Amino acid sequence: MGQRPARWGCASLLLLLLWGAAAVAQPLCNVSLESAPELRWLPALRHFDPAFLRSAMTRLIAKTVPKWVHAVIRPIAAELEYFIPQPFAGEILGICQMLGIGIGDGILINLAYESAVFCTSIIAQDSKGNIYHGRNLDYVFGDILRKITIDVQFMKNGQVAYKGTTFFGYVGLWTGQSPRKFTVSGDERDHGSWWENAIAAFLNRNFPVSWLVRDTLEKAADFQAAVLKLAETPIIADVYYIVGGTSPKEGVVITRNRRGPADIWPLEPTAGAWFRVETNYDHWTTPPPSDDRRTAAIKALNATGWEKINFETLFKVLSVKPVLNNCTVYTTVMSAAVPDKYMTWIRTLE
Ligand SMILES: *[C@@H]1O[C@H](CO)[C@@H](O)[C@H](O)[C@H]1NC(C)=O
Ligand SMILES: *[C@@H]1O[C@H](CO)[C@@H](O)[C@H](O)[C@H]1NC(C)=O
Ligand SMILES: *[C@@H]1O[C@H](CO)[C@@H](O)[C@H](O)[C@H]1NC(C)=O
Repeated sequence: MGQRPARWGCASLLLLLLWGAAAVAQPLCNVSLESAPELRWLPALRHFDPAFLRSAMTRLIAKTVPKWVHAVIRPIAAELEYFIPQPFAGEILGICQMLGIGIGDGILINLAYESAVFCTSIIAQDSKGNIYHGRNLDYVFGDILRKITIDVQFMKNGQVAYKGTTFFGYVGLWTGQSPRKFTVSGDERDHGSWWENAIAAFLNRNFPVSWLVRDTLEKAADFQAAVLKLAETPIIADVYYIVGGTSPKEGVVITRNRRGPADIWPLEPTAGAWFRVETNYDHWTTPPPSDDRRTAAIKALNATGWEKINFETLFKVLSVKPVLNNCTVYTTVMSAAVPDKYMTWIRTLE
C-alpha cells in the first residue's frame, strides 16, 4: 500500500470513541471531468502502489469472472471504443495504460463487481423532514477491496459535480451523491447464474448497473429525474436502486429488471413508514433465515425512532450485527441536502 491519508474529523473520532467500532476513513481523491478520460484517474493513482493494484486486480478477476467470459471479452478489447460509451472507454483505457495491464482485463474488472455485491441500504426521513441515506457494501473478497476503496469527488468548474465511493480501477459507482439534488446506492438483486445474459446485454450496449448510477449522478437535474432514469434505462443485470432526495418523502427503493422497473417502493412517512430497508431480497418477500440482515436493521431503526435518526445513529444501525458482518467492506452515510457530510468508513469486524 502507498500512502493512505486518514481524514480524522472530530465527528469521526467521536464515533470511534462512542461505539468502539473498527472503522477507518478512506482516501479522498479528485477526478477532474475536464481532463481527458484517459488522464483523469492519474492523480488518484498516487494513493496506491501500482504493483499492489496490478496483483489485486488479477486476483479479483481470477476469482470472480468465469473463464468463458474472459474468452468473450478479451478479443473485443481492441474494439473497446466501439462497444463501450465514453467516458467509460477512455477512463478504463487510461487506467490500464497507467498500471500496465491489458484492456481486456480492465473491462473484466469493471464487470467483475456487477454481481456478488451483498449490501444493506437504508433510506430514512426524520421527524423534521430531513432525508438520510446509508449503506453497507459487503463483498466476499473484502480483504482486497478494503485496501482499494476510495471516495472520489468528480470535479467540474472548480466545484464537486458529484461524489461517490468506489474501488480503484472501477469507473462505475455503487454509492454516490449529486450535491443538493439526490443520493443513490445500488444493491445486488441477481442470484445465481447471470453472466450469460449480462454479457449479451453488455455487447448490446446496455449499461452495467454502476455506470447508470454514475451517468445519473452526472445528468439528472433532481430527485424525480434521477428516479425516472434509474427506473427506466436498460441495464445488464437486475439490481435494487435506493434513491434519496432533499425534501420530505423523497426516498424510494426501485426494484429493477434488466429492461425496466419491477417495483417502486417510496417512503410514506405520514403512514408511519419513515424508513425503507433494502438488502438483497425483494421487499415483498421474506429473507432467508440464514441471511436476515433486514430484520436486524428494522429492529435497530425502530429502536432509534424518527426523532433521533441522523448521521451518527444511522451509522450505528449499520454497525449492528449481522447488518455489519465480516464481508462488509465499507459504510457510507449521506444526505443530499448537506453534501459535505458525506462520509465513508472502511469496516472490519473485530
Ligand atoms: C479537490 O479539489 C478542490 C477544489 O480544487 C480542492 O479544494 C481540494 O483540496 C481537492 N482535494 C483533494 C483531495 O485533492
Ligand atoms: C418495527 O415497528 C413497526 C411499527 O411499530 C412494527 O410493525 C414492526 O413489527 C417492527 N419491526 C421489528 C422488526 O421490530
Ligand atoms: C464470516 O462469518 C461467518 C458467520 O459468522 C463464518 O461462518 C465465516 O467463516 C466468516 N468468514 C470469514 C472469512 O471470516
